Amino acid sequence: MSKTLLITGGASGIGAATAYRATDRGYKVAINYRSRDAQAKAIVADIEARGGRAVALPGDMAQEADIVRLFEETERALGPITHLVNSAGINGRRGRVDEYDAAALANLFATNVTGLMLCCREAARRMSTKHGGKGGAIVNVSSMAATLGGRLGSSAYAASKGAVDAFTKGFAREVAAEGIRVNSLRPGMVLTEMTEARLKDQAFRTHIETSIPMRRVGKSHEIAEAILWLLSDEASFITGAMLDAAGGGYII
Ligand SMILES: NC(=O)c1ccc[n+]([C@@H]2O[C@H](COP(=O)([O-])OP(=O)(O)OC[C@H]3O[C@@H](n4cnc5c(N)ncnc54)[C@H](OP(=O)(O)O)[C@@H]3O)[C@@H](O)[C@H]2O)c1
Repeated sequence: MSKTLLITGGASGIGAATAYRATDRGYKVAINYRSRDAQAKAIVADIEARGGRAVALPGDMAQEADIVRLFEETERALGPITHLVNSAGINGRRGRVDEYDAAALANLFATNVTGLMLCCREAARRMSTKHGGKGGAIVNVSSMAATLGGRLGSSAYAASKGAVDAFTKGFAREVAAEGIRVNSLRPGMVLTEMTEARLKDQAFRTHIETSIPMRRVGKSHEIAEAILWLLSDEASFITGAMLDAAGGGYII
């Protein structure tokens, strides 16, 4: 069966690593990006040079109209969407609760939560056997922050990822008998553009790595492998699960 995977936030980090490895496993890949036009197009060129099939599609996952257009354009370019990875996400403004800013919170939740939920809506409308679809698999990229409320200053981000996990469980049950599997993947600290500036500070990196049982941060491809396993038929009886890819978690 032809497999078409849409990855939101696919031009960098975990999303990009997933795009490359998905190509090696025979998926056609749609790489959504917000601002990274050149990065997205370079990944597509790389994938096509390896004999794969990919397209780069712009769209702000905090905007409903962009999400609807992204799904339509993906299907026009690559055929029915069979797999979805919601990787687009932001850290938001770090800070204590007594410093919260309402606009920053709204922006954080618009991308990490509402946008992800609307992507799942669009996927359900296409994949569900109830709507004439052939089923599919979805992975929502959450975070280990959801488990302990995040590291200090990350309570808002942690809350957004907690919402992703709760939504994933409810959505998974709703569509389980309609051919769709939905799971959350919870990375621990991973070296990507989201974290590299902070991890350049050796004292901070040592502090983080000391808190992780494996004593190191993760790499994007380690997360991508776990995502691809959840998407694959090897995980055919797994839905509504949260898989931690986090070197054993973290201690705070
Ligand atoms: N790295 C970690 O330690 C870690 C740990 C746990 C969970 N995560 C989660 O993993 C996911 C991927 O992050 P990453 O580590 O791979 O960092 P990353 O390289 O910064 O990737 C995030 C991607 O999401 C895109 N994005 C953000 N807002 C978007 C929007 N509204 N519409 C479309 N794209 C948007 C970003 O593009 P723009 O820059 O153009 O906006 C970027 O390409 C995120 O959901 C993150 O919360 C990461």
